[in-house]
Amino acid sequence: MRTVIILLLLTLSAGAHSANGEPPAPSQKAERLAADLARELAQLCPPAQPGDQAAFERCRRGLYQDSLLKGSFVPYALWGRRAKDAATPLKETTLTQFAPDVLTGMYLPLFMFNGRYTVEYEARERMFLVRLETAFRNRLAPGQFPYPFWHDEAKWSTYQGANTLLLWIDPKTARIKVGQYTDRGATAPIVASERVQQAKFDGKWMWTDADGREQPQVTLFDGLFSADNPFLPKLDSTYKTLALRMRDGQCDRCHVPDNPHGMKRIVLLQTPAHAAGEIQRLMKAVREDKMPRDETDIEQPLDDQLKSALLESGAAFEAVVQNAKDWEARHRIARRSRQ
Ligand code: HEC
Repeated sequence: MRTVIILLLLTLSAGAHSANGEPPAPSQKAERLAADLARELAQLCPPAQPGDQAAFERCRRGLYQDSLLKGSFVPYALWGRRAKDAATPLKETTLTQFAPDVLTGMYLPLFMFNGRYTVEYEARERMFLVRLETAFRNRLAPGQFPYPFWHDEAKWSTYQGANTLLLWIDPKTARIKVGQYTDRGATAPIVASERVQQAKFDGKWMWTDADGREQPQVTLFDGLFSADNPFLPKLDSTYKTLALRMRDGQCDRCHVPDNPHGMKRIVLLQTPAHAAGEIQRLMKAVREDKMPRDETDIEQPLDDQLKSALLESGAAFEAVVQNAKDWEARHRIARRSRQ
């Protein structure tokens, strides 16, 4: 009899807690995930010199291959700067939608970690907020960033001065829904680095460098896929055709990093790696005449010829992306079994 009463009291108080915005019951799962993520990040992406290319590549490969971090994101997670006023709700913050491949392959490896973190339940968002101490690799070559962050001075400044990385975990699913960075965290960056002044942005999200190499290199799967992956040249050529069709379809009027349309949840398509992360949604949106849109955000169907050209080039790119990934998976297994 006594046990029953105690259980009943426990149940009642648990109910009362969540009504008050206290953590819901499965909080342990989110807290354990936070601890495991902090450990993994410190192991794969430990503090290094902010221009250390080899350390960056190790971190990048580690996070992109089968990391816990990659497996913990929802299929389309949100990423961006934390609002200046920390009280701004996420739904009023401008963020970018990214597939886990894109986040772990190009954005998160730009940060370093020492394993120190805090985790707390944020009642307003109904999510756990993990704050990881960090520093940003601001001295890498320009082509190691997914696009010239310095197109916007404030953005580049926040990236360079970042001292905290925030991960928002949904307690119901124990998945990460949002990642953010800020230079307003409580602790100093874990690696000190002088600010870098980049050349003035010339309006090009992709460019050819002095050695004739296409940049940004990181957006061409360089370092993520093996150099001997036979699908690399086709990945490049099929993307170029798709990019031309997207230009005909005016997609680049809205889906570029300077966000000319002021979307709260922008989708980026301006490089091979960005488009690869979105190709399935892209095909669906075009097939169903949801894209493109006009100035007032009304769907504006393409003419039949352009629509089928866009779908054809999209399908070719999609197939090569899949082939390239399958090849990597097979060869990783083969390499492992040889070791
Ligand atoms: C005038 C601006 C504009 C143009 C031009 C435009 N889009 Fe969009 N796009 C948007 C907006 C706004 C959203 C967010 C839609 C939403 O969530 O309701 C979006 C969302 C998307 C998404 C994500 C869809 C999803 O499943 O959530 C894809 C993919 C996309 N657009 C592809 C394209 C392609 C391809 C083109 C060119 C054929 C294009 N867009 C042209 C404004 C635009």
